[in-house]
Amino acid sequence: MRFTQSAVAAAALLLVTAAQAQQPIIVKFSHVVTEDTPKGKGAIKFKELAEAKTRGRVKVEVYPNSQLYKDREELEALQLGAVQMLAPSVSKFGPLGVRKFEVFDMPYLFPDERSLEKVVDGPVGSGLFKLLEPKGITGLAYWFNGFKEFTANKPLKKLDDFKGLKIRIQSSKVIEGEIKALGAIPQVMAFSEVYTALQQGVVDGEENTPSNKYTQKMHEVQKYMTMSDHGVVMYAVVVNKKFWDGLPPDIRKSLDEAMAESTKYVWQIAKQENDDALAKIKAAKTTEVYVLPAAEKAVWRKAMLPLYQEYESVVGKDTLEAIEKTVAQSAKK
Ligand code: LMR
Repeated sequence: MRFTQSAVAAAALLLVTAAQAQQPIIVKFSHVVTEDTPKGKGAIKFKELAEAKTRGRVKVEVYPNSQLYKDREELEALQLGAVQMLAPSVSKFGPLGVRKFEVFDMPYLFPDERSLEKVVDGPVGSGLFKLLEPKGITGLAYWFNGFKEFTANKPLKKLDDFKGLKIRIQSSKVIEGEIKALGAIPQVMAFSEVYTALQQGVVDGEENTPSNKYTQKMHEVQKYMTMSDHGVVMYAVVVNKKFWDGLPPDIRKSLDEAMAESTKYVWQIAKQENDDALAKIKAAKTTEVYVLPAAEKAVWRKAMLPLYQEYESVVGKDTLEAIEKTVAQSAKK
């Protein structure tokens, strides 16, 4: 009798363990843009690849458009393990205490996408990721969105036009300095709140990529857009370190492969996504698009130049010099 009881208990335990073994590992991937953006599409691509490569042992749940968390909350949720994966703009790591990522916010630092890709693929990219480890975060990849342009309800053609305007920014001190250098008033705000803030006049303008503007319908509430290309929107795909380190090695390998492939995909589609979004903004005819002439760009650039000295100690002189060198080499080729 006793034998039968323990045999039954052992069999039950086996069944429970087998059922647990079949439970997929859940990766909750939260982000703040729509699915119809470079990052949104990248997240879906990663989900498809990760699930296929692990034959369903991993299930990726993507939560776009601030459905779960806003900018700052999602970083806290990642550290607490409430979500496993994010791809925030690197301009949002300041509140974590890792301001060096703000080097990507330096005005007119990157002349093109290629030089930017070289920088993140090299020691600067990996060096910055190391800073996240003590925060319980592991950096997996850099994704690109595009170059930033300004919008407002008045034309922004000369520096004087910025005077007194309240401009929404991400939580980056470098961007804050930039807006002040242009003569405007920066206002930090979560991405999900920008449309309403523009509509209600809480802020007068904003800066973002055409893709982010169009998918948030900002063109409906902003009459003028200036193609200034003064900065970039870069993402770091990050995971909760404890979760990542605790994965079975074969699963981690498959996820690494899925990430490498989706990263390639995002860089491939980013420019086209932004070109398409710009064409749609123009077609909507609610926003007048002005291309800042090179001579005027030089004036804006000059106004923001003191930031390089001012923020050198924040973003790191070495990092800045390494980036400038890579950009110069990339331009020669
Ligand atoms: C922002 O302006 O907050 C954007 O960078 C959002 C995003 O993730 O692209």
